[in-house]
Amino acid sequence: MTEKKRIVSGMRPTGKLHLGHYFGVLANWKKLQSEYDSYFFIADWHALTTKFDATDTLCDNVLNVALDWLACGIDPEHSTIYVQSMVPQIAQLHIYLSMITPQNWVERDPTLKDMARALREGGHSEAQVSYGLLGYPVLMSADIMMFNAHYVPVGVDQIPHVELTRDIIRRFNNTYKTDFFIEPEPLLTQIPLMKGIDGNKMGKSFNNDIKISDDEETTTKKIMSAITDRSRLRRDDPGHPEDCEVVFDYWKIFSDEVKIEEIEGLCRMGQIGCAQCKRELAKRVNELLAPIREKRRQLCENPKVVREILLEGSQKAQKDAQIVLDKVKEVVRMY
Ligand code: TRP
Ligand code: SF4
Repeated sequence: MTEKKRIVSGMRPTGKLHLGHYFGVLANWKKLQSEYDSYFFIADWHALTTKFDATDTLCDNVLNVALDWLACGIDPEHSTIYVQSMVPQIAQLHIYLSMITPQNWVERDPTLKDMARALREGGHSEAQVSYGLLGYPVLMSADIMMFNAHYVPVGVDQIPHVELTRDIIRRFNNTYKTDFFIEPEPLLTQIPLMKGIDGNKMGKSFNNDIKISDDEETTTKKIMSAITDRSRLRRDDPGHPEDCEVVFDYWKIFSDEVKIEEIEGLCRMGQIGCAQCKRELAKRVNELLAPIREKRRQLCENPKVVREILLEGSQKAQKDAQIVLDKVKEVVRMY
């Protein structure tokens, strides 16, 4: 049997996750975890790069992310699930990488420029761009290199970071005359981005998201509030699903060909009202999420179990990471 290729991916602990995370990331990870030797981690150091002064909710956020992952089927039997700060080897590797990374490589990072702008616009007076934030892409390279990953499942916005990781790896291998580190490739997610309930990109800060952990009533309320085809005034007016961005898009995500065609037909012929259509969609969404929510509820009652999973995953990650770190120290020729 050939050994499985390794993947590493991480997520910042932003708190309770939404359906965009589910369809955009977690459903994909769930599938990948049986094909690859998978390392999934909660990037709490990365959270500190911009929110170093908002740590009162950090622990809670980490726990909520872990709950959502586990409820969605990220399985500790298949994947190594850990918290970044619980694997200190990553910080050590980051030090070595920070020495060989030219300053202008990090300064031209496009994501970093966006984050710096957002920080300034958010009125963070004292914190323009911290030393740590500048090192964000190098820390991410350490995350990936720590397990010598072959692939990194990420969205397109993260591609420059994987490119930088490859640059750093080439420089490391060259400098220390080794071929130890593998140049990883991004593993792009094919799933379309899920829109928020107002038609914009789904995001916590836009207040337009449906949380994995929302209850049925909240979910239904949110769906019922979506804007539909604006040209439809009466329930028997013929509708235009293509102008009904949110609800019809959700139907496409949440059901099969047959159902999609049925809704499309009924809508075009004016045989279903938007309220009824949304109510049916909400029912569908709630049905699909029911087992996930039930699992989350059970885990929620047992936070100890979740903490144990993170602890065990982090210990396993530490063991694997130490092997890589020892090799790094050897080739760098540390004392
Ligand atoms: N930067 C990623 C994001 O904001 C999160 C992340 C940190 C990550 N380290 C990583 C993703 C390593 C993949 C691999 O979404
Ligand atoms: Fe959208 Fe459904 Fe109304 Fe058609 S019937 S416009 S698909 S909400």
